[in-house]
Amino acid sequence: MKEKIEALMAEVEAVKAATKQDIEDARVRLLGKKGSITALFEEFRNVPAEQKKEFGAKLNVLKTAAAAKIEELREAMENSGAAAGAAASDLSMPGEPMELGSRHPVSIVRQEIVDIFRKFGYDVAEGPEIEDDWHVFEALNFPPEHPAREMQDTFFVSEGETAQDGSKHNPVLLRTHTSSVQVRTMEKMPLPIRVICPGRVFRNEAISARAHCIFHQVEGLYIDENVTFADMKQAILLFAREMFGPQAQIRMRPSYFPFTEPSAEVDVSCNICGGKGCNVCKGTGWLEILGCGMVDPNVLEASGIDSKKYSGFAFGMGIERIAMLKWQVKDLRNYFENDLRFLREFNTEL
Ligand code: DAH
Repeated sequence: MKEKIEALMAEVEAVKAATKQDIEDARVRLLGKKGSITALFEEFRNVPAEQKKEFGAKLNVLKTAAAAKIEELREAMENSGAAAGAAASDLSMPGEPMELGSRHPVSIVRQEIVDIFRKFGYDVAEGPEIEDDWHVFEALNFPPEHPAREMQDTFFVSEGETAQDGSKHNPVLLRTHTSSVQVRTMEKMPLPIRVICPGRVFRNEAISARAHCIFHQVEGLYIDENVTFADMKQAILLFAREMFGPQAQIRMRPSYFPFTEPSAEVDVSCNICGGKGCNVCKGTGWLEILGCGMVDPNVLEASGIDSKKYSGFAFGMGIERIAMLKWQVKDLRNYFENDLRFLREFNTEL
């Protein structure tokens, strides 16, 4: 009797199960009506009276251990998620498909722009999104009363110190354009400078199909001796051809920015109708892509660059705008809502 109990105890301890069925088989084998432990209880009847106490206790320990083992195996199986039965452990079954994400259209276009300018020898520079008034406005030659500083355009974080004459000094704000990175670059990088600065910008605008309070820009800056307007025109033309195809033409319209003089806005020939006129270009054959100009000497001097010796050009474009032209997605909100039906359309661009 003793040996049988010990042998069965060893068997209980060694029970292993890969499936629910294995557990049930073990239960039947040990504790079922015809199970080996049940059979020992039958034999127990014939044990001499003086040994009943000892073997009775041992048998009960064995039975409890067997029941506990079965329960433990059941719980482990349920926790491992294999409760679905034999099929769950079929290692030849195909795995659960894992859906691959795709790059966001804004990231795709930003990378494309960065890659184009990298080929032209530009480095990438980045700056903080929470900026001060100096880098966003003051150093970029915005006069104190310039409307872009008004509350309706700029999200202010703090108002800054008020001087004795009532003027405010260096408020903290969310940058309204990436031109602030121009200033940071001019302050710290040795000349000549050739950088592009991609980044997120913020404006206090009501959200609509055509405006959003968050969007992305890429700023470009080139400063060296003898940089001319013709250099700028050539750089932008080459960019337009890389971005929109070798047939792309550009035209420049005079414009105004506080930080450049002269300034221009650049249109690219409509890539949909090839310049003949369609509803995308509103019949004009041209699409506006960026603003640019020769860096104003005041801006160079504000960052400690000798404007007699150095000159340069800058340009800035909206990434969502370029993406719109590339894919004809007209509602800006699509770029921010992360609707999977929209994002999946860009799966192929990985
Ligand atoms: N910062 C301008 C804006 O947000 C864009 C821009 C225009 C940047 C002309 C430039 C530039 O560097 O030269 O609208």
